[in-house]
Amino acid sequence: MCGIVGYIGHKEKKEILLDGLQELEYRGYDSAGIAIIEDGTLKHFKEIGKLENLRQKTKSYTSNGFGVAIGHTRWATHGKPTELNAHPHLGEYSFIIHNGIIENYQEIKNELTAEGVQFVSQTDTEVIVHSFENENHTAKTPFEAFTNTVKKLEGAYATLLVTKAAPNTIFFAKSRSPMLIGFDGDDVYFASSDSPVIGKANEVYYLEDGEYGYAKSGEVKLFDANGERKISKQALATDKVLAQKDGYRFFMEKEIYEQSRVMSETMMGRVLDSGIDFDEFDKSLFDGIYAIKICACGTSYHSALAASYLFERIAKMRCDIEIASEFRYKEPFLTDKTLFITVSQSGETADTLEALKMAKRAGLKSLSICNVDNSSIVRESDAAILTRAGIEKGVASTKAFATQAMVLWMLSLYIGQLRNTIPKDKIEIEIDAMLHTPKALVVEDKLHERIHRLSKRYLHGHGFFFIGRDIFYPLALEGALKLKEISYLHAEGYPAGEMKHGPIALADSELFTIALMPKTLLYDKMKSNVEELSARDATILAISPETFELADDFIQTKHANHPMVEFFEMMVVTQLLALEISVRLGNDVDMPRNLAKSVTVE
Ligand code: G6P
Repeated sequence: MCGIVGYIGHKEKKEILLDGLQELEYRGYDSAGIAIIEDGTLKHFKEIGKLENLRQKTKSYTSNGFGVAIGHTRWATHGKPTELNAHPHLGEYSFIIHNGIIENYQEIKNELTAEGVQFVSQTDTEVIVHSFENENHTAKTPFEAFTNTVKKLEGAYATLLVTKAAPNTIFFAKSRSPMLIGFDGDDVYFASSDSPVIGKANEVYYLEDGEYGYAKSGEVKLFDANGERKISKQALATDKVLAQKDGYRFFMEKEIYEQSRVMSETMMGRVLDSGIDFDEFDKSLFDGIYAIKICACGTSYHSALAASYLFERIAKMRCDIEIASEFRYKEPFLTDKTLFITVSQSGETADTLEALKMAKRAGLKSLSICNVDNSSIVRESDAAILTRAGIEKGVASTKAFATQAMVLWMLSLYIGQLRNTIPKDKIEIEIDAMLHTPKALVVEDKLHERIHRLSKRYLHGHGFFFIGRDIFYPLALEGALKLKEISYLHAEGYPAGEMKHGPIALADSELFTIALMPKTLLYDKMKSNVEELSARDATILAISPETFELADDFIQTKHANHPMVEFFEMMVVTQLLALEISVRLGNDVDMPRNLAKSVTVE
């Protein structure tokens, strides 16, 4: 997720920008850049990869005296992570940085190209700077040119522009992407979130959608569609970690709430009206492939297990799933007709990486599904699909799992298209369901409050069974894992139909059963399994769109018309349940005992 910083004042600007960008590193990025105007001279630097690379590149540069400065970390969406695509983007005499997506960029680009403007990057952002300079030919002032430009933009943007045409000014605009202005006397700062300005500014103004304006030597002018507006500044919090949590108690909680938004990023440019498209690899990757084997650990193993149902059902492709640490020593029988897929949020899990190396030695083609670009697993694979969840800080994975499940669902549909195993009308149904997913992931206050209240009844007992069928079985495994990771209570996930073959012996009132009862998949079968448990006095918490009279507790989800939409909504419920139980038990949910975010040892 891109990050933005800006500064106008007398202080040394390079360090302010680099330090600010460092604070935004947690958002995830693949390139970075800065631009500074001082004494009417424009300077800029860009680098791909980590900020350290940009630090090295700018080592011998310092800025002195009054000037304006902007900096950006880019998380690639339109166009690959190259230096040319990194921000700031240059026109002839102006620089732009931008976070968001300009939806009508192609239209604007066509118009400008027709007028002879040359584009050098593949980004949507570049249209803003050229549009500004084009307007500036005829506008009375640079601000009028900027205003006219902003009026043309459709989509999401937080953007800063600096130009030699107004060398003491930073122009800004915001719509649907966050940005704030920080104040310290005559010094003015801009940032995507609080953390870059904590310790620098003492007051702050959070821009609203549709606001734009300019900052010029201690003076900030703010406008919206109705004209000039007053800036109502507020005091700035001083705790950095608190600021990064955006007001949430834990990173895990913040990440649960982020799922709806990041899911749109995961789908961007990949889920099209006509079907699924992946820029990341050529379809020849699937030439001669008759089966898929997926290897993963922990939470990633659960998303892979859910995908095995989808690959067989949608793509009609044989699909086996293996826990990486088991796979490594079983002397697996591997053939080159199998595509080897690894799933990993960190891309560094030792067992998964070794499994991948084994498969490669056996001559298999490989694809990784990962949240970290340039990680070991990504580098080792023939092709990679990034999940675009942004950096996940909570050790218990939430948004990484959600985006993995989405990518795998998309991939099953992609293969189905390729192999013609899925009719056109079915593709449309799947696409429609995918586009509904971000909505299903929105956490409503009412739901969170209900789970918070219910959680107090589940702090004792002798254990939890999470049960589900089909894709809701891996979700049950994941729900149980989440709970045990952060609450330290015993929990197991089980296929509901299998309970009668042993585990039902444990049923009594102190056994808590969390039943995932979607309406769109095997509802009646699931109901019978839960009835069997209820008859043996187990305590049942049913999660379903349909009221269930035998349940002791009930969390109602929405009716949906696709199992995956129900899957994602129930996933949120299980995540919040684990969170609320663990918070009541007084645990540090972000750093649970004995666990690590990235397990690089066997
Ligand atoms: C660790 C993490 C888990 C994760 C597992 C696999 O145990 O705590 O959250 O699921 O590793 O990690 P990966 O990065 O490969 O998904």
